[in-house]
Amino acid sequence: MDMKILPLSGALGAAITEVRLADLAQTEFNQIHQAFLDYCMLVFPGQFLSIDQHVAYAERWGSFSISPFVSYLDSHPCVLPLFNRGKDNAVTENWHTDSAFLTEPPALNILSARQIPVGGDTMWSNQYQSYDRLSEGMKTFLHGVRAEFTGARLASLVGSDTVPATFHPIVRTHPETDRKSLYLSKPEDSVPRLEGMTPAESLPLLHYLYQHSIQPDNLYRHHWQNGDVVMWDNRCTLHYAVHDYGEQTREIHRISIKGSIPR
Ligand SMILES: [Fe+2]
Repeated sequence: MDMKILPLSGALGAAITEVRLADLAQTEFNQIHQAFLDYCMLVFPGQFLSIDQHVAYAERWGSFSISPFVSYLDSHPCVLPLFNRGKDNAVTENWHTDSAFLTEPPALNILSARQIPVGGDTMWSNQYQSYDRLSEGMKTFLHGVRAEFTGARLASLVGSDTVPATFHPIVRTHPETDRKSLYLSKPEDSVPRLEGMTPAESLPLLHYLYQHSIQPDNLYRHHWQNGDVVMWDNRCTLHYAVHDYGEQTREIHRISIKGSIPR
């Protein structure tokens, strides 16, 4: 069985078929790893992994990253069940990168789709391309600039008074590909300001960079199917979870892999 790699859009993403993640040879893993670096996000249709198989596949990518404010499975403390909290509580219905308020945000996420409603697509943007498309003047201006990243949305969801926050460069260099990407999340609550500047001074630029990143020709939108495994590089993409499925059940398991300090 020869693995097939099919690009999903002009911007990012590839589907990989003719492979079983539950029974993967090292040579196949190496091919997947290269495709992951090339395409930033991968879809493996029809895998239907058990929880143990999901964990075993994720272990090949590194050690697990655990986020605050969310509840993992008692039986598998690295597996975060994502379910329908209602549109009002859908804190991920905006463009963001996961857990950027951590000193070492997760490098990548691996999701296993267990029950998919009608709707509930996820979109990704290619943040290498967002950086590459900036003018040389803006690239020079942003060199060395850091922004504050906060967990305000998640903290408010659980009613916590403690809001974790840290500073990261808004242009980061990928530790494996050595490519530069624009590192952002939603301005205001998740990225309130640039370092050394007020929110009022920072937000016009942050809003510009945010809108610049999410142009339609820089995206892939995934229509989930039961059994899909989807993984993405949290260091060079943004994503957006569309909540258009009302009260329907949606259950997806997420495992995050530890990353390094963004530089
Ligand atoms: Fe997310």
